[in-house]
Amino acid sequence: MSNTPTIPYIAGDGIGPEIWQVTEKVVDAAVTAAYQDEKKINWLEVLAGGKAFEETGTWLPEETLAAISEYKIAIKGPLTTPIGEGFRSLNVTLRQDFDLYACVRPVRYFPGVPSPLKEPEKTNMTIFRENTEDVYAGIEFEKDSKEEAELFNFLNKQLNVSKVRFPETTALGIKPISKEGSQRLVRSAVEYAISNKLTRLTLVHKGNIMKFTEGGFKNWGYELLKNDFPQTFTMKEYHDILTQENQAAADAALEEAKAAGKIIVDDVIADNFLQQILLYPEKFQVVATTNLNGDYISDALAAQVGGIGIAPGANINYQTGFAIFESTHGTAPDIAGKGYANPCSLLLSATMMLDYLGWNEASQKIINAIEVALKDYKVTKDFASALKIEALSTSEFGDYLISLL
Ligand code: NAI
Repeated sequence: MSNTPTIPYIAGDGIGPEIWQVTEKVVDAAVTAAYQDEKKINWLEVLAGGKAFEETGTWLPEETLAAISEYKIAIKGPLTTPIGEGFRSLNVTLRQDFDLYACVRPVRYFPGVPSPLKEPEKTNMTIFRENTEDVYAGIEFEKDSKEEAELFNFLNKQLNVSKVRFPETTALGIKPISKEGSQRLVRSAVEYAISNKLTRLTLVHKGNIMKFTEGGFKNWGYELLKNDFPQTFTMKEYHDILTQENQAAADAALEEAKAAGKIIVDDVIADNFLQQILLYPEKFQVVATTNLNGDYISDALAAQVGGIGIAPGANINYQTGFAIFESTHGTAPDIAGKGYANPCSLLLSATMMLDYLGWNEASQKIINAIEVALKDYKVTKDFASALKIEALSTSEFGDYLISLL
């Protein structure tokens, strides 16, 4: 990677430009603080969303896709999702066009941030959500459409499916989940655990009900770990020993694996997982899950540590290197232009991008500054209102971070 990479950015709609401005300034200041003149990012603005539509008549111009194809790494603020028939979410389009199969969401607590939990600091985990399959593949057919009728007919006549409760008024959707898609996602999660010296990986699925799709995700995940990652010990192995030998032998194998520093891999049903993250969040470090589960889980966890204003995200294809880093909230039209927006989600996404570039020193400087600012209750309106204190505006918050750098 060059010391002066060109990185396309999409400022985004609504609060996007406000939080982008702060992010760009803070990142540049952190890179200078860490490397003086040795490294520098050349930012390249590209358009998408409302601004793109106003200026070019299209929501996602070809030039934007070409720039991301050329430079491989991009960062984006929130985008207005066009409403109307036939529009796919721009975010989903970008993830699918670049086959960004891993949606990576680290969730941690920053002291000072208002949280609904008594001990929010116990929540510290990274979610790997599969990003290209599942019901998000967009294979859905409307009630009364010709396609739905044909698909229903096929299911009914060819596959003897008779379980559709109200066949006359049904819409149909299809949930594709593959071995290849599941294994590349689980691989990225376990490799993340290995490189960050973490010792717990949890596969979250709904395989008790959807045995072949969600159950497949779990089974293929375990199979990959068994075949390719001798540094893991799975609870499937534990149960196999339990069945073939006895409890004492299984416990001994588990203890031996822990003593050897192996990554202990478990699986949890998605609904149970949503309970567990509230009751015992400290049990989880790295989580790999399917697309829809991951969507719910990421937002629930974000709420536990202070809400979407502070939850970062990245969409990555670890095989091709393509990556788009993004704020996880929407365009917040209710507060756009008022200086109320919290830029931390985009900023922390930018720190993930810096880490991805290998510029960890700059990333750490930003994280340290955010930690200090939040601990000192120098916060934007979202947190200030909950804490009943005075708020900094979005740009004042950015300037405060820069003063700390
Ligand atoms: P939203 O996330 O924009 O807003 C929900 C609530 O959270 C609002 O009260 C808002 O003021 C607040 N909020 C969000 N981000 C904040 C921040 N950084 N600082 C302080 N408060 C913040 O979700 P909503 O209202 O459902 O969607 C608005 C638009 O955003 C829609 O067009 C939607 O399609 C789009 N959207 C885009 C996303 C993306 O580009 N990744 C993700 C989610 C929604």
